[in-house]
Amino acid sequence: MRITLEYWRQNGPSDTGHFETRQVEVDDHASFLEMLDVLNEELLADGSEPVAFDSDCREGICGQCGLVINGDPHGPLRTTTCQLHMRSFKDGDTITIEPWRSTAFPVLKDLVVDRSALDRIIQAGGYISVNTGAAPDAHAQPVPKQNADLAFEAAACIGCGACVAACPNGSGMLFTAAKVVHLGLLPQGQVERRARALNMVRQHDDEGFGGCTNIGECEAACPKGIPIEFISMLNRDVLSGASK
Ligand code: SF4
Ligand code: FES
Repeated sequence: MRITLEYWRQNGPSDTGHFETRQVEVDDHASFLEMLDVLNEELLADGSEPVAFDSDCREGICGQCGLVINGDPHGPLRTTTCQLHMRSFKDGDTITIEPWRSTAFPVLKDLVVDRSALDRIIQAGGYISVNTGAAPDAHAQPVPKQNADLAFEAAACIGCGACVAACPNGSGMLFTAAKVVHLGLLPQGQVERRARALNMVRQHDDEGFGGCTNIGECEAACPKGIPIEFISMLNRDVLSGASK
């Protein structure tokens, strides 16, 4: 298939950036990132600089590969950019590719943004610091089935940042909620539960993410199906922590 790409070029956070346009021919079974590999091979062959983009696992598990494709974080399917294939587009299509757009995610180069703000939210409380000892026997500490299932669902967040890119407020609340809820549902997470919620939300706000106004674009864009109800659960922990 032959497609026209309009891709973002930006030389660092203070550059204004611009789009470049180029046609590529690619197999419709190629993944989106393989298509970008083809683009870069052609750019290199022409003596041009390749387009910078992030990727690592290319299996939908590391969260590195976020791109805004035709206005949608991760593109037209509810999956990661690396799991998107060119057969989701038509021969002759024009595809626009941009980096995540958020104050908290400065553009480092072209399509690569600095998402370390998410790491600092984790550092503010996304851990258990009590000594949990050696690995316990299976089922030594019963966890209610519903809590175990919800914690597992929350743990599916891969920290890609699509929720932030999709939100008109640039809020990182779905990510923060997934991390808080994951630990808050498990016995080991109870000791620091309320301090964790307060500290992580404080860090979220300090990083320049916007507030949540329940628009729901985060949930719609999340490739791992993290539900917006987790934000309500986070808010309950924040309120109960603030009232202590
Ligand atoms: S909540 Fe979903 S969209 Fe947001 S960082 Fe986690 S996996 Fe990505
Ligand atoms: S490259 Fe790891 S999730 Fe896409």
